[in-house]
Amino acid sequence: MVRFDDVGLKYRRAQGKSPVESLDILRSVSFEIPQGGFRWLTGASGAGKTTLLKLMYLAAHPSQGKIEILGVDAAKLPVREAALLRRRIGVVFQDFRLLGHLSAYDNVALPMRLARRSEAQVKSDVTELLHWVGLSGKLDRKPAELSGGEQQRISIARAVVNRPKLFLADEPTGNLDDLQADRLMMLITGLNKMGTTVVVATHNQRLVKDYPAPRLEIAHGTLAFDEALVWAG
Ligand SMILES: Nc1ncnc2c1ncn2[C@@H]1O[C@H](COP(=O)(O)OP(=O)(O)O)[C@@H](O)[C@H]1O
Ligand SMILES: [Mg+2]
Repeated sequence: MVRFDDVGLKYRRAQGKSPVESLDILRSVSFEIPQGGFRWLTGASGAGKTTLLKLMYLAAHPSQGKIEILGVDAAKLPVREAALLRRRIGVVFQDFRLLGHLSAYDNVALPMRLARRSEAQVKSDVTELLHWVGLSGKLDRKPAELSGGEQQRISIARAVVNRPKLFLADEPTGNLDDLQADRLMMLITGLNKMGTTVVVATHNQRLVKDYPAPRLEIAHGTLAFDEALVWAG
């Protein structure tokens, strides 16, 4: 489960000799997603979606409030335990963040190798996933030799390959056509049915309509709307 309790995030910005300015990026954000829940994360560009996801995968720390991720208090985690927790989280970054010197195959294999899975298992899972996302013929390609959509599909495969308990995706269909977006949704809903908690930030109205799930709507750095509260009555 994921729980935010009155979470705020400020960035401090030093500008020459003037006093340090403090920017409120997120304010008083509270919500709860039960284990196995699915939420769309919506809101205008600049509203704070990426920042909210960063807090969920422990790449940013709140200036205020409490965050619980997969039952763990995210604030007081020693580095080692934070790293272990992060391994249970699959993330699709808006800018993919693939490793440029590794092939498509090795990028997707990386999380499995870090988890010390056998090479036989790695081969079978990675090959199957890359086939599923339509990249069977491009296992040896480096990211720079692939299109934006192809890189996005590799980053999706990498995020799901270890069957994470929490799956976070930041506008994962930005470079995909409708058919590929639907395949992605099949992958995500499959993972979700097996108990993974899912949060997907998106601007894709068609997907939100075709795959009904409660929305978390962010506006100007705060939670404007938690549709799960409405759905629950
Ligand atoms: N590292 C940073 N330093 C200062 N401001 C930032 C930083 N990252 C994001 N912001 C600001 O925080 C706000 C929310 O950004 P972001 O979470 O990326 O929004 P979204 O993903 O919804 O487009 C924006 O106004 C953005 O300019
Ligand atoms: Mg963003």
